[in-house]
Amino acid sequence: MEKTNENNSMVNCFNEWDKLEEVIVGIADESMVPTWHSYMGPVLPEKQHDFFKKNAGKPFNHELIRNANHELDMFAQLLESRGIVVRRPTNYGFAKPYATPDWKEDNSLYAAMPRDLLLVVGNEIIECPMSWRSRYHEVNAYRPLLKEYFASGCKWSSAPKPQLTDELYQENFVPGKKGERFKSCLTEFEPTFDAADFVRCGKDIFGQLSHVTNQSGFDWLERHLGDEYRLHQLEFDDQHAMHIDTTFMPLAPGKLLVHPDKIRTLPKQFKDWDIITAPTPCFPDSYPLHFSSKWISMNIFMIDENIAIVEQDEKSIQDTLMQHGIDVITTPFKNFNALGGSFHCATLDIRRRGKLQSYFN
Ligand code: ARG
Repeated sequence: MEKTNENNSMVNCFNEWDKLEEVIVGIADESMVPTWHSYMGPVLPEKQHDFFKKNAGKPFNHELIRNANHELDMFAQLLESRGIVVRRPTNYGFAKPYATPDWKEDNSLYAAMPRDLLLVVGNEIIECPMSWRSRYHEVNAYRPLLKEYFASGCKWSSAPKPQLTDELYQENFVPGKKGERFKSCLTEFEPTFDAADFVRCGKDIFGQLSHVTNQSGFDWLERHLGDEYRLHQLEFDDQHAMHIDTTFMPLAPGKLLVHPDKIRTLPKQFKDWDIITAPTPCFPDSYPLHFSSKWISMNIFMIDENIAIVEQDEKSIQDTLMQHGIDVITTPFKNFNALGGSFHCATLDIRRRGKLQSYFN
């Protein structure tokens, strides 16, 4: 088994930009439309709500899945051609129904977005307590890999398994208005968080509350990581918040990519950084992005601090990044984008060269 870093395990990742050595890339196989729940309303594009209500329990369009898988394979080959080890999750049967003593779900969602549910901090992989019932068993798709990483010496932990009973979700929730303080559809019944609500900058980790991450979820992570890390809770002007990586993306030491109108005040740590405002995406408004806004264009993935993987047709962000001294490699990902993410969501960086350090004074 390959071990290339000081902690002597296959897992070692402290930030979003050190030189990438090993990564998990998601799969689109058998992606399923989940059972509709009120907690999906605040985060899914309004014009997609009917699609979800009508198609719950069905697989996503066959051709979309085939094309998305093809794009994922091309992306994986691109990474491999640069010497990066690429691993893939396993389809464990997303179409199967399941139940707890309190609720039942007709099917799972998918294993397309490893970023959402696994958080790598240093040599530890944390299974996050996700608030969507359709994602309750998603980690199964990654368990073969997790067992292998554990055998190599990494730390493997899981937050308390949530019950996801009705008490977790606000009854008759009405989202707040733009400009108001963020209002989550979650209660504080129990801790929940998605890994994708956090970004890592060495000793400093930045996160947000959202419609999947509540305060007790944030607190659990902060206490779990302990004194070695400083967790910072950011609040953005976004009443649809779910996953920080189309809002606030540290790309390299000194370079931060931000959404043009969700940042109220820049966290003080970044005052001397080059702030790169994401340009208007090139997606036509008519393009059916089932789960996300078109700002998915800024969901790029760094393979080292100078090179970003960017969607082939998203010329505006390619130009912006190059103007800020970042090299761009492009590959098509539009079909995959329809499933709710782009390159950052579709990946989980398992090992990057580099050590724990502070990037702020
Ligand atoms: N909610 C975000 C948007 O609509 C998409 C975030 C995707 N990120 C992820 N890790 N799945 O712009």
